[in-house]
Amino acid sequence: MNKIIEAEKVGYIYQSKYQKTKALNEVSCSFEQGRVYAITGKSGSGKSTFLSLLAGLDVPTEGTLYIDGKDIREIDRDAYRMNQASVIYQAFHLFPLLTVLENVMFPMQLQHVSGKEAKERAQEYLGKVGLPESLYGKMPNMISGGEQQRVAIARAMASGGQILLADEPTGNLDSQNEKVIVDLLCKLAHEENYAVIVVTHNEKVAEAADVVYGMMDGVLEVVRG
Ligand SMILES: Nc1ncnc2c1ncn2[C@@H]1O[C@H](COP(=O)(O)OP(=O)(O)OP(=O)(O)O)[C@@H](O)[C@H]1O
Ligand SMILES: [Mg+2]
Repeated sequence: MNKIIEAEKVGYIYQSKYQKTKALNEVSCSFEQGRVYAITGKSGSGKSTFLSLLAGLDVPTEGTLYIDGKDIREIDRDAYRMNQASVIYQAFHLFPLLTVLENVMFPMQLQHVSGKEAKERAQEYLGKVGLPESLYGKMPNMISGGEQQRVAIARAMASGGQILLADEPTGNLDSQNEKVIVDLLCKLAHEENYAVIVVTHNEKVAEAADVVYGMMDGVLEVVRG
């Protein structure tokens, strides 16, 4: 299997004028396409910090993170974030002034895909996440939380990447919507060959994952592999 992401003794230190915090300590692991990974652990253990490195928002202060075999320090991280890796969050983060359809078209417009093609592909992705057509013209604040998270997933798919990162994606959802999102993340990995990496406190999300990592004080260990 192709290891799309590999972390080798990755460390990360937050440094302010007065204080140093070592948030990650020699984290080594790898991620393959076609699988769902859960990262669990207590508040403050370093999960979001690790996810933001995987998303290319920052680079490790120690060790190396490889994307497709290349050191993340040496690739164009803006291009990586635009074309290869997408992040979804607990609070959905949709653009409030764009419709559902326009939200999903947005990453393709950044990539200069034509309007017609962007629209067709956006409709296809919204179909894949099971959103009814009657919602395509609505603003995000007019649809439910579960629906908003499905739009966020469709938008992530629209970037065309194969890495989907999620930070507590079910944190704001009831158990029924939680199941819809978890099933969708599994489908993306198992049927569409995404590498899906989910930070979660939720037992059910972790149960559904193929691999579970636990983070404790910045140290990552395999809980179930
Ligand atoms: N911007 C920052 N500046 C300084 N320290 C930070 C910053 N962000 C996080 N930290 C510290 O780094 C450590 C790891 O934080 P992180 O946000 O990665 O934890 P987490 O596992 O995602 O927690 P939670 O479950 O509460 O979201 C914590 O000690 C936190 O206080
Ligand atoms: Mg966090």
